[in-house]
Amino acid sequence: MLSGVPPVEPTLLLAARRQPTPFTPVWLMRQAGRYMPEYRALRARHSFLELCKTPQVAAEVTLQPVERLGVDAAILFADILLIVEPLGVGLEFAKGEGPVIQRPVRTAADVARLAPVDVESAVGFVFETVRLARRGLPAGVPLIGFAGAPFTVASYLIEGGPSRDFVATKRLMHEEPEAWDRLLALLAKTTAAYLNGQIAAGVQAVQLFDSWVGALSPDDYRESVAPHTRTLIEGLAPGVPVIHFGTGTAGLLALMREAGGDVIGLDWRVELGAGWRVMGDGVAVQGNLDPVALLSPPKRFEPAVRRILDAAGGRPGHIFNLGHGILPSTPVEHVKALVDMVHELSARR
Ligand code: CP3
Repeated sequence: MLSGVPPVEPTLLLAARRQPTPFTPVWLMRQAGRYMPEYRALRARHSFLELCKTPQVAAEVTLQPVERLGVDAAILFADILLIVEPLGVGLEFAKGEGPVIQRPVRTAADVARLAPVDVESAVGFVFETVRLARRGLPAGVPLIGFAGAPFTVASYLIEGGPSRDFVATKRLMHEEPEAWDRLLALLAKTTAAYLNGQIAAGVQAVQLFDSWVGALSPDDYRESVAPHTRTLIEGLAPGVPVIHFGTGTAGLLALMREAGGDVIGLDWRVELGAGWRVMGDGVAVQGNLDPVALLSPPKRFEPAVRRILDAAGGRPGHIFNLGHGILPSTPVEHVKALVDMVHELSARR
C-alpha cells in the first residue's frame, strides 16, 4: 500500500470536494457486472431483477469489485429503471436486449395515469442493500448510490427500451410540452426521494446518470431538461457529493454544470482538460478513459491513462473512471491493472 498516514476522509470524497489526495481515486462504472466471473456465477442462478431485489445477494455483488480490484469506492448494485417499475409500466430485462418497458408512456393521457411512488414501500429493498453493503465494506471505502436523471429515465419510459435517435422522446418534448414537464417533474420528485432514501440508508455520494442526454441540442437541454435536473439535485440531502454524468455531452458541459453537481462526469469524446476548462475550477471532474481501451493489454492503454492524469495535472478534484461502463467482454486482469496503474502513476506525481 501507499506510505504515510491514511487520510481521515476517503480519497474519493476528498476529490469530490476538490481537496488534495495522496493519489487519484478510481472506481469504474459497471464495475460489478458480467465481465466478472463471480457475478456470472450468481447471475446463472438468478435473473437480473431477482439479483437486484435480493438485498443479501445485491450487497454481495456490490462488494465483489472492491475485493477483486482494489477500487476506491463501491457502487450500489441496482439499476436506474428499478424506480419506474412501481409506475406500473411493465419493466422487463429481456435476454440480450436490455430493458423493455411493456407499456410505454407516449401521450399526455399516458402521463396523466402515472401515480406518485412511495419509495419506502416500492424500492425498500434497495435501501436494505445499501445497509448491508455499507456494513460489509471497509471503513475507508465509500459507497456510491445512484439513480437515473429525469431525461434518461423518461427516454426509456417513452421509447419502451434503448433508442438511437430518441424520436418519440423528442416528439413528446416538442409537441406536448406540458405533459413532458409533468412527466419530468414527477421523475425529479420521485428520484430525489429515492436518492434521499439511499443517503439515509448509508450511501456517502450519489451519481446521477443522464447517460443519453447528449442526444439533445443545448437549447432543448436548457429549456426542457435542466430545470428538472436542477430541482432534483436541489432536493437532495445537503453534504453528500453529487456526481452528474452523461455521455456525448461536450456541447452541454457548461449547462450541466449549471444544473448542478459537485463532480461532472466526462466521456472520452472530450479531452479531460478541455472539458474541465469549459466548466471552470469550481467543480470536480470524473473520467474519462474509453471503455474499449480496456480490451487491449495494459501496455496499450497506459499512454491514454497517462494523458488523462496529465490533463488533470495533479489538480485537486479529479476522480478517475471510464467515460462509460465496462464492456462485458473486458478481461478482469486488465481492469485490475488499470486500477493499480492509476494509483501508481498518480502517487508518483
Ligand atoms: O455500475 C455498477 O456496477 C452498478 C450497477 C449498475 C447497473 N446498471 C447494473 C446492470 C448501474 C450503475 C446501472 C445503471 C444503468 N442502467 C444505466 C446508466 C449507466 C449507463 O450504462 O449509461 C442505464 C442506461 C441502465 C439501464 C440498463 N440496465 C441497460 C441499458 C441494461 C442492458 C445493458 C446491459 O449491459 O446488459 C441494463 C442491465 C444491467 N444493469 C446489467 C447490470 C449488471 C446487466 C444485466 C445482466 O446481468 O444481464
